[in-house]
Amino acid sequence: MTAPSRRRFLAAGGVGLGGAALGATGAALATRQSPPSGSTASTASVVATGNQELAVYGRYQPGIIAPAQSQARLAAFDLTDTANRAAVARLMRAWTQIAAQACAGRPLAEGDDAMAYGRGPASLSVTVGFGSSLLRKLGLHDLIPDALAPIPAFPGDHLDPARSDGDVGVLVAGNDGLVVLHALRALQRAATGTARARWQMSGFSDAPGVMPIPTSTPRNLMGQLDGTDNPTPTQADFAEKIFVPADATPAWMRGGSYLVVRRIRMLLDTWDTLDTATQEAVVGRRKTTGAPLSGGTEQTPPDYTRQRADGGLAIPADAHIRLANPTTNQGATILRRGFSYHDGLRPDGTPDAGLLFLAFQADPRIGFIPIQQRLAEADALSTFITHETNALFAIPPGAQPSNYLAQDLFDA
Ligand code: HEM
Repeated sequence: MTAPSRRRFLAAGGVGLGGAALGATGAALATRQSPPSGSTASTASVVATGNQELAVYGRYQPGIIAPAQSQARLAAFDLTDTANRAAVARLMRAWTQIAAQACAGRPLAEGDDAMAYGRGPASLSVTVGFGSSLLRKLGLHDLIPDALAPIPAFPGDHLDPARSDGDVGVLVAGNDGLVVLHALRALQRAATGTARARWQMSGFSDAPGVMPIPTSTPRNLMGQLDGTDNPTPTQADFAEKIFVPADATPAWMRGGSYLVVRRIRMLLDTWDTLDTATQEAVVGRRKTTGAPLSGGTEQTPPDYTRQRADGGLAIPADAHIRLANPTTNQGATILRRGFSYHDGLRPDGTPDAGLLFLAFQADPRIGFIPIQQRLAEADALSTFITHETNALFAIPPGAQPSNYLAQDLFDA
């Protein structure tokens, strides 16, 4: 018998879920726009409330181009001593099935803990990636992509090795905390005996429904609109910049991407001592509107040559957007999908808070690395942030109904 749909409870009981605003990258490429089957909800309402059902199968893993979500759990796993290639293949098969059920808002076929019972799909996505250590441990040295080379140390890094790296990384994101945690717990249970948790982090973004229009840019904990100049899937070179090309080697990464994870603490108590004009000069944009300091609205392209009346640059030489912009980094482009975090106070009483910086790209050597090199050397923002962790995961292409995630790697 088919398992009852979690979503039917929506139709029957009218469970009210919060929804997410669609982010700047919000072209709904990974989204099935129709309302869940059995639901009376209209397409507009599932979009507005962030209760969409994302298509789990496709060329790319759906979490990369999904509309921005409001809740995230990020987890890294290390293989157990006895795990081998066959065991990891079995795990990927199990995870593919769990992701398919959870993203559809269905109870899991086996061992569901009922944590999300009665909840809708909540735009859930499960994105899985592999660290180079996984491939080395499995003896797959020939299949390690060059792009998975370690990220170099940057000036000012204060990295915690215990919360960095990992054999396998998973990003579970959606618009409901229970739905997200339910999926992560299920993935973790399935990993028993094959992989154990190395570290976990959680993050959040704008709450569903609070944005004036669904495509508004999210804000970060420094009060800035963050995501304005992200590339969008409608741009002609988007796929080339973000996804691994069809003729790349190793073949198992074709249609994949690379995810850089940096937990970046914000020194919020120090930041708060600056006046608004100084804060805006650090980034190069107005806090309230997100408009560049060279003028216009949020979407007006910054004019980096424009001068103020006193002759100084309207967007200062060390402003974050000037140094991060592709035009000043040989075209280096990344898709940022970060989440805020606030995990209470540190021993010194300052907030343990900041940005779970997540960036997807076709190759970190021409994406994140050159940009971060430049930022670490000269960015005015550096005074107010500390990079605390680092991880790089190869994100294989999306699964198909006929296979499981990264089957090409494990069958190779
Ligand atoms: C806590 C750390 C960070 C904060 C608070 C922050 C904040 C911002 C803000 C407010 C903007 C302007 C709005 C926008 O276009 O999104 C921006 C732009 C940008 N940031 Fe960051 N950022 C951080 C770290 C980073 C890092 C580590 C990188 C990459 C290595 C990066 C890359 C970029 C890029 C590429 C842009 C767009 C620049 C443009 O084309 O105009 N950011 N960031």
